[in-house]
Amino acid sequence: MEWKEHYAQDHAQMDETHREFVALVDRLSRVKPEEVVEALEELLAHTGQHFAQEKAWMEMSGFPPMLCHVDEHARVLDSLEKVLAMTRQNNPGLGRIVARELEDWFIQHAATMDAALAAHLRQV
Ligand SMILES: [Fe+2]
Repeated sequence: MEWKEHYAQDHAQMDETHREFVALVDRLSRVKPEEVVEALEELLAHTGQHFAQEKAWMEMSGFPPMLCHVDEHARVLDSLEKVLAMTRQNNPGLGRIVARELEDWFIQHAATMDAALAAHLRQV
């Protein structure tokens, strides 16, 4: 997965975090089987902070569709935790599969929910 300029939401900190997210997903899609657990742990730690930051912005700004956005984040974190647990039980091939799923998810999520959040943050 590589960063594309149209992923940018004209919000410097959000875009920086999203660039890091894309780089970590890319790494997960390429690492050797013995490095999948570490790549997933790093992605999970980053994603937890990334979503917590967006939630703080939503709370601070009174973002109307906050619950919907936060629910979607929670589902992603939950599946990443499950994938990490399964990978630890010796299923490293899942890393590549989840990286592909996350790429599709991110493109869709950034273009809709994060774009709406960034537009809302610019207004308030
Ligand atoms: Fe988001």
